[in-house]
Amino acid sequence: MAQATVLLFFVILAAIASTFHAQVNQCEYVIMIHTGSTKGPTVKLKPLIEAVGGGNINTTNLVKNWGDMGKGHTYFLPNSSDRFKYNGPCFNGRFCYFQLRGKKGELNPHWYVHNITVTTKGEGIDRVRVFFSGGVEIDYLYSPPLNDGECP
Ligand SMILES: *[C@@H]1O[C@H](CO)[C@@H](O)[C@H](O)[C@H]1NC(C)=O
Ligand SMILES: *[C@@H]1O[C@H](CO)[C@@H](O)[C@H](O)[C@H]1NC(C)=O
Ligand SMILES: *[C@@H]1O[C@H](CO)[C@@H](O)[C@H](O)[C@H]1NC(C)=O
Repeated sequence: MAQATVLLFFVILAAIASTFHAQVNQCEYVIMIHTGSTKGPTVKLKPLIEAVGGGNINTTNLVKNWGDMGKGHTYFLPNSSDRFKYNGPCFNGRFCYFQLRGKKGELNPHWYVHNITVTTKGEGIDRVRVFFSGGVEIDYLYSPPLNDGECP
């Protein structure tokens, strides 16, 4: 009986240990898209954001899966700021590549954005990456994908 109890104890201990071992630090990713003077696309958008040294965050429907503006909100109105949120594993490297694609590949022309910021928060991590900064409206169609040269 005592032996069984001891065995059970070790089994539980091993289970707890493996749970801890499997745990990867989780980060919160917040993406802010500051739109310019035109209305943005209404098609499904697929973001792909890659980190230096490998790893990426992506989804097949930005608004539906990561939208953080509440129900009934209309995204990408002119001159607005829309927030998106995603929780997932942290990466060691900062982000270096940003791509947004439409349902059938490319976006339709002329969506002006001021900038897109990606904030990463987690244990010991607090990063902000700004894409298309500079205070001017950028015609998104003619800019993507954005790669600052450090991504593979
Ligand atoms: C958006 O901002 C631009 C520049 O300030 C302005 O010309 C335009 O009228 C604004 N559009 C809307 C719909 O508010
Ligand atoms: C998207 O992310 C998942 C993990 O969440 C990954 O398995 C997959 O390879 C990624 N897709 C691309 C195109 O990199
Ligand atoms: C992004 O664009 C918004 C709207 O024009 C502006 O208020 C903000 O300062 C910009 N942020 C950066 C980091 O350029």
